Amino acid sequence: MRSVSIKELFTGKKLLQEVTVNGWVRTFRSNRFIALNDGSSLNNIQCVVDFEKFDDAILRQINTGAALRITGTLVESQGKGQSVEIQVSDIFVHGGADPEVYPIQPKKHSLEFLREKAHLRVRTNTFSAVMRVRSALAFAIHQYLRDNGFYYFHAPIITGSDAEGAGEMFRVTTLDEKNPPLKEDGEVNFKEDFFGKETNLTVSGQLEAEAYAMALGKVYTFGPTFRAENSNTSRHLAEFWMIEPEMAFYDLDANMDLAEDFIKNVLKYILENCEEDLLFLENRLLDEEKTKPQAERSEMALIEKLKFITDNNFKRVSYTEAIDILRNSKPNKKKKFQYLIDEWGADLQSEHERYLVEKHFNCPVILFDYPAKIKAFYMRLNEDGKTVRAMDILFPGIGEIVGGSQREERLDVLKEKMAALDIPEEELWWYLDLRKFGTAVHSGFGLGFERLVLFATGMGNIRDVIPFPRTPQNAEF
Ligand code: 4AD
Ligand code: MG
Repeated sequence: MRSVSIKELFTGKKLLQEVTVNGWVRTFRSNRFIALNDGSSLNNIQCVVDFEKFDDAILRQINTGAALRITGTLVESQGKGQSVEIQVSDIFVHGGADPEVYPIQPKKHSLEFLREKAHLRVRTNTFSAVMRVRSALAFAIHQYLRDNGFYYFHAPIITGSDAEGAGEMFRVTTLDEKNPPLKEDGEVNFKEDFFGKETNLTVSGQLEAEAYAMALGKVYTFGPTFRAENSNTSRHLAEFWMIEPEMAFYDLDANMDLAEDFIKNVLKYILENCEEDLLFLENRLLDEEKTKPQAERSEMALIEKLKFITDNNFKRVSYTEAIDILRNSKPNKKKKFQYLIDEWGADLQSEHERYLVEKHFNCPVILFDYPAKIKAFYMRLNEDGKTVRAMDILFPGIGEIVGGSQREERLDVLKEKMAALDIPEEELWWYLDLRKFGTAVHSGFGLGFERLVLFATGMGNIRDVIPFPRTPQNAEF
């Protein structure tokens, strides 16, 4: 017989019919009640066993974590807290789980402990809820962009260029590490490497996306990107997923409008489609915050916070205005910031971003027109000659969630900027070609997928919203 998902059982299956389900045991109480979960939703189905009808050898294998196939009759539940249950007629044990060694027992485990068990943690309510929301967000992203005329485009993972110019890249090589070929000056000769040049894992698909936008109009990438920054924070991963929409004929204002509408819509999607998981995550967060002092607790519960984002406009503020606000802010005057803001041109740290979002404006903020000096080479220079058409979206509790810009479409200005930063033209000849042949105003942005999932789930650490996190000193699994 075809098995059904446990989720289906709770959405109006006819009573008194025979059903077969497969799943993993969450608990087995009194040799009688199996709570079975199959990941289709948070709900466990209670399976009621008449132990006299079953071999001891089978019953002994029904431990937390064991995989079972259960057949029985779906009946209205006698117990509290569930609408239906299964009166079990047959049990097949796919695989047991020795309670002496299976680590995910029915008790509260810390998130840190579960991180060490990343291959099993998704069998908990918290992680299954997070990963279902993550999946729904990915779907909503594709749907929104497709509905708005974007083509999904695949940027290469291995690249010869450093799009962000930050130099924090992972090298890709097949050279013999012990005995690499050397040039006359003693440096490694990458001409003999697999690709005949130095290559790395990409930090961003943007440059290639620009080429595609200049033919298909509106494109986006959604793939893994890699950064070898040694930032051991709750917001940084060495491997993270990024969505990078790129649009021909969009200026910075159109870019900001799109980014805001995009984020609101994907959050709306999960509010409408992941209610149960979000409610669970909301309560998890409330529970976690009970142990914190009042001042550190969230002002809004999770769902209220998500609705606040979807229902309110983001505040748009220029970098120059933001610097004025920060310079005159209490924590700056009282020297409470770790990095004090004294002059125009300073790079903003996450403490400053969070002050603006969480204390000053109390809503998401889009900062734009940053100093050219602190932003990447490809951003369009403003008439003032010192700021560029950059925009960052800052979110409460997260800081920067989006980084984007209008691109420099003028060949001469772009060349000047590259020269000033010592970026060789030969490396990006094809990128310069885009400014020689049919150049036009264009813009795009990058949304950090895990930062979005972090915000949407109310989790506190980015390591807990990606299945198998890669961070400094950590690439297990
Ligand atoms: O601001 P970033 O570096 O922008 C770019 O890469 C541009 N090429 C995007 C574009 O215009 N197409 O990164 C974009 C976003 C950040 O705002 C942040 O959300 C996320 O990517 N991000 C990270 N997320 C997790 N771990 C890291 N180490 C991240 N670095 C950036
Ligand atoms: Mg950025």
